[in-house]
Amino acid sequence: MAATKKAKKTEDSKPNAAPSVRAFDVEAIRNDFPILHQDIHGKPLVYLDNAATTQKPNAVIDAISRYYEHDNANVHRGVHELSTRATKAFEGARARIAKYIGAKEDAEIIFTRGTTEAINLVAFGLRAQLQPGDEILVTHMEHHSNIVPWQMAAQATGAKLVVAPIDDNGELAMDEFERLLTKRTKIVCVVHQSNSLGTINPVAEIVQKAHAVGALVLVDGAQALSHTKVDVRALDVDFYAMSAHKVYGPTGIGALYGKRALLEKLSPWQGGGDMILSVTFEKTVYNKLPYLFEAGTPDISGAVGFAAALDYVEQIGIDAIAAHEQDLLNYGTGKLSALPSLRLIGTARNKASILAFVHESVHAHDIGTILDREGVAIRTGHHCTQPVMARFSVPATARASLAMYNTRADIDRLVAALAKVDEVFGS
Ligand code: ALA
Repeated sequence: MAATKKAKKTEDSKPNAAPSVRAFDVEAIRNDFPILHQDIHGKPLVYLDNAATTQKPNAVIDAISRYYEHDNANVHRGVHELSTRATKAFEGARARIAKYIGAKEDAEIIFTRGTTEAINLVAFGLRAQLQPGDEILVTHMEHHSNIVPWQMAAQATGAKLVVAPIDDNGELAMDEFERLLTKRTKIVCVVHQSNSLGTINPVAEIVQKAHAVGALVLVDGAQALSHTKVDVRALDVDFYAMSAHKVYGPTGIGALYGKRALLEKLSPWQGGGDMILSVTFEKTVYNKLPYLFEAGTPDISGAVGFAAALDYVEQIGIDAIAAHEQDLLNYGTGKLSALPSLRLIGTARNKASILAFVHESVHAHDIGTILDREGVAIRTGHHCTQPVMARFSVPATARASLAMYNTRADIDRLVAALAKVDEVFGS
């Protein structure tokens, strides 16, 4: 009996099994997320802070527990059964991610702590290829994680950081972008979907234009992965950075996709175990991709959880998720636009999942605090995009961000809680 159970559990922790598709049923989906079913300050939780982090379905929580209950060991090192299983689960997760985003081979997926570390890996690894006179083109809507690593690379190499502007709707000004894209541009660093505005950038067009001048393109995919179909080869991106926790997976793990030939040209950035083939005091021979960029014991259970999260999303279907969220976005935009005290920040024609706004007389932090008392969780502040706040001349915004488990009733609760803000502040 115990043996049968163990065999089944081991089978279950293979993250690479093809998931079966199921019909989009938001109530059934909500039942998969235990955290959603609780009261906050005596009111049922409405979780609208999904751009900060998404909640985790049982499928992810169970996959991580199963891994620790049955398979935990270190990877790539042991000859014993548990190490073999752990390695299989870890490498299976890599294969799962590669397949999900359409990478050509598994070795093009490097595990990182998340999007930020993935971008830092490229920004550091590319330094040897940058020199004074080179330009790094970013957009005005980038998250700090796609600005600061490039500022550091520019400082270290003498390259220059160039910023493509955005318009009043929060769209990239494509004519300006094209003007700033020149033979000096070595890399374009662009967010797929803005975390503070919701804008979806025309990545395929950007890539095509950047490649025409010989520039590489790195895409920050942190937000996009849970809302949009991502196919790195169809987009022809050179690097794509991801975080598991934004796509219903665990925190502390993410991945960098890179084309093999380009990854092979990056300098390794962290030395240690697993990234070497041999070490003497005179000389170290580095390992091949992807291990070259994965020094130290990786987040194995995180990788298992990441793969389980992608399985879960695939089961529901990214197109069905996108359609549901778009309906909520339209519904929410209509409701919030009708409130005279609010102004929406981020009104791009092509946007997803973000409802950011300012109040004419109440600071975003006060809005967030009152909403919390009503059981509604949103994020307030600059959202790690201070240049976006400066562009719109606001110190902060209040941001409701959507996920597949949100409902129109959640939006109604948000609107009711905002009425409370007006009540409290007499506005
Ligand atoms: N970058 C995350 C957000 O937008 C943390 O909230």
